Amino acid sequence: MGDTKEQRILHHVQQHAKPGDPQSVLEAIDTYCSQKEWAMNVGNKKGKIMDAVIQELGPSLVLELGAYCGYSAVRIARLLPAGGRLFTMEINPNFAAIAQQMLDFAGLQDKVTILLGASHELIPQMKTKYGVDTLDMVFLDHWKDRYLPDTHLLEECGLLRKGTVLLADNVIVPGAPEFLAYVRGSSSFECTHYSSYLEYMQVVDGLEKAVYKGQGSPGP
Ligand SMILES: C[S@@+](CC[C@H](N)C(=O)[O-])C[C@H]1O[C@@H](n2cnc3c(N)ncnc32)[C@H](O)[C@@H]1O
Repeated sequence: MGDTKEQRILHHVQQHAKPGDPQSVLEAIDTYCSQKEWAMNVGNKKGKIMDAVIQELGPSLVLELGAYCGYSAVRIARLLPAGGRLFTMEINPNFAAIAQQMLDFAGLQDKVTILLGASHELIPQMKTKYGVDTLDMVFLDHWKDRYLPDTHLLEECGLLRKGTVLLADNVIVPGAPEFLAYVRGSSSFECTHYSSYLEYMQVVDGLEKAVYKGQGSPGP
């Protein structure tokens, strides 16, 4: 065919969704990935849980780790208030280019900044280069062995404040056991697990919400 799966997902959106309508973009991606080619978007089932977490929290400044084709970025950005911002980090330039086109098509380009590079290099630049003070929410959805080191890095860089919500995808499949053990065992976090299903599959997976309580705060 000469194109990539990610390009085919984008083309499907461009042909079947409505420009400027994020919901139609999500629906087009979910239809394609459930019927034609599986892809590692968070998907609609876990996406609805994300929506509920975002709607309860009402974040203005969100960081996403792992943009891929921009599905979850569209999902998050469509719920941000006026003036709200999403930064999303993506290591793969081909995926970052697809995500940018997806966000442009959805009409969300003014709310979202894609940062191309590795999370461990970009996180320390958030304050100095991108003018971020602290984050309201972080969606962790990059490679699973990076969840824990990047959580430590976010804390070390002073990007977490009391009440910052970490929401981590795929904590069951493929799984992020070190991250889960750390946040569940730390008095700095209060955790909730949301059981669901792996995107486009009948396989149990889940999201973990870890609310930052501040450094070394006493446990419950
Ligand atoms: C599961 S996909 C993200 C899916 C996306 N959040 C969604 O639901 O639409 C993981 C993405 O993380 C990217 N990635 C992996 N490790 C990374 C890192 N250390 N820094 C930035 N991006 C990374 C991969 O290239 C891949 O595109």
